[in-house]
Amino acid sequence: MDEQVEKKYVLNMLGKYNDIVIDHARNPRNVGNIPEADGFNQEEGECGDTLAIWLSVKNNRIDKATFWTDGCGASIACGSMVTELAKNHTVEEAFKIEAKDVLSALEGLPEDHLHCADLAAHTLKEALKDYQEMSKAPWKKPYSSH
Ligand code: FES
Repeated sequence: MDEQVEKKYVLNMLGKYNDIVIDHARNPRNVGNIPEADGFNQEEGECGDTLAIWLSVKNNRIDKATFWTDGCGASIACGSMVTELAKNHTVEEAFKIEAKDVLSALEGLPEDHLHCADLAAHTLKEALKDYQEMSKAPWKKPYSSH
């Protein structure tokens, strides 16, 4: 990121977001897609921002979880955190991840950005459902769009 843009971005976040959120927004974990993912979903939030999640599942455990978003710093932090929370857990455990878990791991978000955590948790659940559907009909995988 250009230094001036980075400075403006961080200054914009300071005072509004806590250090954990700023860290995940500036150094997001698990960014990008997984080629031939076992599960995928892309959702548009109420604000119009998009979040996508890819899953790689081995022996019913989330081996890799990655994300991409065109949204705000909070949605980057939520995508980063929800994929961290899902990684290394079983599919059943990952299904239990809710927006409140993302918020608590990030130690909170401002009121006007709570929906970013909803978007992250919802996108994960739908990616898990996609994994379940795909594992019932593995022959469909080569035809899937991700
Ligand atoms: S997801 Fe839209 S403002 Fe964060």
